[in-house]
Amino acid sequence: MDRIIVHRSGPLSGTVPIAGAKNSVLKLMAATALAEGRYELTNVPRITDVDCMGELLGSMGMTVTASGDHGLVIEHHDGLVPEAPYELVERMRASIVVMGPLVARYGRARVALPGGDDFGPRPIDMHLRALEQLGATFETAHGYIEARAERLVGTRILLEFPSVGATENALMAAVLAKGTTVIDNAAREPEIADLASFLTRMGAQILGAGSSTIEVEGVDELSAVEHRVVPDRIEAATFLAAVGIAGGEITLTGARADHMDMLIAKLGEMGMRISPTADGLWAMAPGRLLATDVSTLPYPGVATDYKPLLVAMLATADGVGIVTENLFSGRFRYVDELVRMGADIRTEGHHAVIRGVEQLSGAPVRAPDIRAGAALVVAGLRAEGETVVAGADHIDRGYELFVEKLRAIGASVDRG
Ligand code: EPU
Repeated sequence: MDRIIVHRSGPLSGTVPIAGAKNSVLKLMAATALAEGRYELTNVPRITDVDCMGELLGSMGMTVTASGDHGLVIEHHDGLVPEAPYELVERMRASIVVMGPLVARYGRARVALPGGDDFGPRPIDMHLRALEQLGATFETAHGYIEARAERLVGTRILLEFPSVGATENALMAAVLAKGTTVIDNAAREPEIADLASFLTRMGAQILGAGSSTIEVEGVDELSAVEHRVVPDRIEAATFLAAVGIAGGEITLTGARADHMDMLIAKLGEMGMRISPTADGLWAMAPGRLLATDVSTLPYPGVATDYKPLLVAMLATADGVGIVTENLFSGRFRYVDELVRMGADIRTEGHHAVIRGVEQLSGAPVRAPDIRAGAALVVAGLRAEGETVVAGADHIDRGYELFVEKLRAIGASVDRG
């Protein structure tokens, strides 16, 4: 059942509930290493990356149990083994965010070095430099990084680039450091603000999260809490792309329009109508979208995670669009798959020129990663014949009940 089979569909109609954000919950789970006790997270998406982070916490000595409807209880009372093994880091790079909390709480951490991935090289130098500035020292041997520190000491950290992961690692370390830490050029993603609100609830003192300057006053101790995960703006964007490509009218419950301003403006330029509702978003798309140009940027710019979806939308839009990737050098690999489906796309360095065609042509394709996999599925909604997306396990890493949710709005999509 590693494949998703798609047939031309639309117009779509109906309601889709949006789950909690993958890129928030994984960091909240890592942050539970900062204090012993019993945590309860709600609005947790049922995705395999959450299972993977659960396995990592389990291997460190925590008990992780699913509870009720989208709940997760995490408990630990007797210290942890501060180690992230290769098998888990290799499956999920986000595992690297346990480094900050472990070194802050236990004075040491042993974390496997993540390798490259389908986006091209993804270094962690900024994570390490930030923790070093707080007083950690590192040794690398046998594919592992060993971090050590007496108590960390607050300082000014100027990030070379607003990296999401480096900001999170620095923030989770700084909350237990002695004195004040200022993180400048911090990432501003809503998931960072969510992490900061979780840490604040645990007893941390943080100002400015969600802006470029985060100020943290270290405390001696934190405690376990309950928290509701912020909604997944990228899942919401995926369903907006589905309706953009197939046409129709849908409602997304639980989505936060205020976390997606720039994307909503872009989709407006492409002819979609999107407005906030009391508990989500309403969206309508005409028969065929209009082409536009897009550049990815750190939040509040258009997220790199939206890009495969936008390329899929432009593939059948009216006109020519230029998409520029400014975050990940290798993030155009799925373009070849869209071309196999009849898309007219030329890539040059970090640009793609997309000449929209009336419709695509169903073909066997392979999902190279989570977002590109979802983009190939939604592209199949405007492809004549059958599109078979292999590698659907990538999609399961980040999307809960993806096929079921698409079917609920009338898409012809099956697992097979
Ligand atoms: N970078 C460095 N050195 C570092 C850290 C980052 O050079 O130490 C570079 C990266 O190579 C990249 C840029 O900085 O070119 C941005 O990377 P960032 O650190 O912001 O990304 P991340 O924390 O590794 C998270 C999300 C990604 C999302 C990016 C950008 C999680 C688990 N992952 O990754 O989401 O694309 O931010 O917004 O939060 C996904 O959900 O499928 C996904 C890949």
